[in-house]
Amino acid sequence: MESAVRRADFLMTLAYATDLATGHSRDFALRSCVLGMRIAEVAGLDEQQRRNVYHQALLRYIGCNADTHLLAAAFGDEIALRKDLARTDMGNKSELGEALVRAITRNFAHLPAKELAEAVERGMAEAMQVSVPILSGHCEVAQRIAERIGLSEEIRQNLGQLYERWDGRGLPRGLSGDAVKMPVRVVTLAQEAIALTEAQGFEAMTAAIAKRAGGAYEPELAELFCRHAKQLYAGLEGPVDRESILALEPKPHAMLDEQGCEQAYLAIADMIDMRMPFTFGHSRAVATLAQGACDHLGLPTADARLARWAAYTHDIGELAVPVATWMSARKLTERETDAAHLHPYHGERALASLGGEGRAVAALVMRHHERLDGSGYHRYVRGADLSPAARVLAAAEAFQTAREVRPYRAALSNADAATRLRNAVTAGKLCPEAVEAVLAFAGQRSRRAATPRLASLTTREIEVLRLIASGLTAKGVARELDIAPKTADNHIQNLYSKIGVTTRAAAALYALEHGFVQHGQVAA
Ligand SMILES: [Fe+2]
Repeated sequence: MESAVRRADFLMTLAYATDLATGHSRDFALRSCVLGMRIAEVAGLDEQQRRNVYHQALLRYIGCNADTHLLAAAFGDEIALRKDLARTDMGNKSELGEALVRAITRNFAHLPAKELAEAVERGMAEAMQVSVPILSGHCEVAQRIAERIGLSEEIRQNLGQLYERWDGRGLPRGLSGDAVKMPVRVVTLAQEAIALTEAQGFEAMTAAIAKRAGGAYEPELAELFCRHAKQLYAGLEGPVDRESILALEPKPHAMLDEQGCEQAYLAIADMIDMRMPFTFGHSRAVATLAQGACDHLGLPTADARLARWAAYTHDIGELAVPVATWMSARKLTERETDAAHLHPYHGERALASLGGEGRAVAALVMRHHERLDGSGYHRYVRGADLSPAARVLAAAEAFQTAREVRPYRAALSNADAATRLRNAVTAGKLCPEAVEAVLAFAGQRSRRAATPRLASLTTREIEVLRLIASGLTAKGVARELDIAPKTADNHIQNLYSKIGVTTRAAAALYALEHGFVQHGQVAA
């Protein structure tokens, strides 16, 4: 690799991605970083606290892709719901209730009035039961991802207090007052100030912040904010210059070498793929195929590395599209197809903050659905614009996707997926050398026994872990293993304590990290 890169570059990529996934406006997290650091300044926070504010603002939502399919099943378009919740006083039961009713009504709008009313009633009765484990999982996954990119214990603790509030009405633990860490208090206020300003205007925002003092926010902090609001908010209406975010990072600036970058790209891969059960582990699998095919073709190490890193991040732009679209078994509408086809564009934008080799990675990501004959998307470029690494990535992605189940079709066997790719070669869409290299590598790999890296779990524990990772609840595990729900629950709790997690989402991430599952399927 040419030279070390700033870790903050990756943080901005993660921030961009979570803005897409949560329906926030362009550069929302970056603007909250600027605002949070300004609040920290006027509040007289020390260097260490300011460092924590910086990271909390950029990374607050990095765990929020976990279990999104469950959120979507209950409330429909999760991006619209999150957008709505960003300006809601979550401690105000009637305000929160109204937002949830709006979401459920949107989700079941196609039903006749009586059934719609029943669906809303049912949804509201189950809302907390559904939401609490999901939101707790977000915190735990955020902490694990933060650990993997080398962030400090303090920053991880803050990420574990994602939705906590001053008055104790937050989640996951209902902490209150000073138990809610200062960076969490600052960033929650900063982010809600931006969301409220966008929804209602600056004056209404300051009124809402003042009204929520002592509820969502520490009273002194809210008062300080309102007193300096004009000056604190100055210039925060539009996009933020990347350089200014880099300049805001308290020193020393963390740098990543090649291995550090590998871990950062891998963390992004898992963050993307945790959104839905059938994409779980997808990017890692594409990366393995791409690396193997590049080696098979004898491409330079640097090209193989770019292809691998692009494979880790190729679908980051998918976060801009609601899970319901990807999980739909029906034919998508033209509008939905257009939105889905723009994901390589959003991917390139998300990676734009990465300098150096990151630019080449972004260029590959932008091309991963392009085809030699110009029939791909979203720019319809042709063969001359597709490098060997781009051709390998396209072939690896197509092969891996064909082997995975999708809501509208079953997974193809290796042989059928190979036939599909060779047909695409005949049709002039995929590169013959790239396809044969991917297939040769896949064939070689399929004869190799996959061994879990951690053998300390019992066979039953591994079984339970894989079932949990596939998205099953305790009831589902009991059904699959033909055991009593209580026994399944005991197995799960024992497993959680053994691997040191407390939520389904974190256990799923553990399974992926330790090779117990691959591309949403159980590892052999
Ligand atoms: Fe894609």
